Amino acid sequence: MIPGPRLPTLHADRVALRWLVPSDVAALYAVFSDADVMRYGSRPPFTEEHQARAYLADIERYFEQKTLFQWGVARREDDLVIGTCTLFSVDASNLRAEVGYALGRNHWGKGLMKEALVRLFDFAFEELGLRRLEADVDPRNARSVALLEKLGFRREGYLRERWFVSGEVQDAVFYGLLRREWVEDRRSSQAGVATGGPPGPRVRR
Ligand SMILES: CC(C)(COP(=O)(O)OP(=O)(O)OC[C@H]1O[C@@H](n2cnc3c(N)ncnc32)[C@H](O)[C@@H]1OP(=O)(O)O)[C@@H](O)C(=O)NCCC(=O)NCCS
Repeated sequence: MIPGPRLPTLHADRVALRWLVPSDVAALYAVFSDADVMRYGSRPPFTEEHQARAYLADIERYFEQKTLFQWGVARREDDLVIGTCTLFSVDASNLRAEVGYALGRNHWGKGLMKEALVRLFDFAFEELGLRRLEADVDPRNARSVALLEKLGFRREGYLRERWFVSGEVQDAVFYGLLRREWVEDRRSSQAGVATGGPPGPRVRR
């Protein structure tokens, strides 16, 4: 699905989505060891830097298997990795994947992840040829729910007690976004047409 030994770099205005390298381990640790970032995640926060090194090794291994594509989200001004975004459970026969994302706490509220995901979804639909993206989110994760809805995801289902993380049972809300909806939203926003539906990728250049 993605030829070559690495993920391609995808440029947005303020961030670039790029291949993660060993010198990013400390930055990954800073993001994934923060309890606020991991509050509604599917694993507890890292407590030791070697966990971030093992995480990076997993990212590389799954890339080789072509089942998970995880980009670092790097600030364009200094190339510092401030988060990641991911396509996982990539299903090449059914042309679908799940999306995941995490941003360092200090960088919330600036629209950076929205910018990164708009670029990622363009790539997923236009270049990888996927038809459908899915997201599984804790219903209490208001920032993530708002982000998905701003990007045009539709709520498709509620799964009770789907996760058990750090001794806590968590429900999940499932969201889906179809390529035809993404293309239509983009066409409408470029034509300046108000759709009345969820806002589309209007941060696009
Ligand atoms: C989910 C997460 C990525 C959302 O981050 P975020 O910074 O709130 O999301 P956005 O990129 O959409 O930024 C949103 C806000 O930035 C503000 N903003 C500031 N400058 C902006 C700009 N130039 N463009 C757009 N928004 C901007 C806006 O107020 C916007 O909020 P609004 O649209 O409701 O007014 C972040 O909270 C996170 O990493 N959480 C932990 C991990 C997690 O839960 N992952 C998801 C698991 S399902």
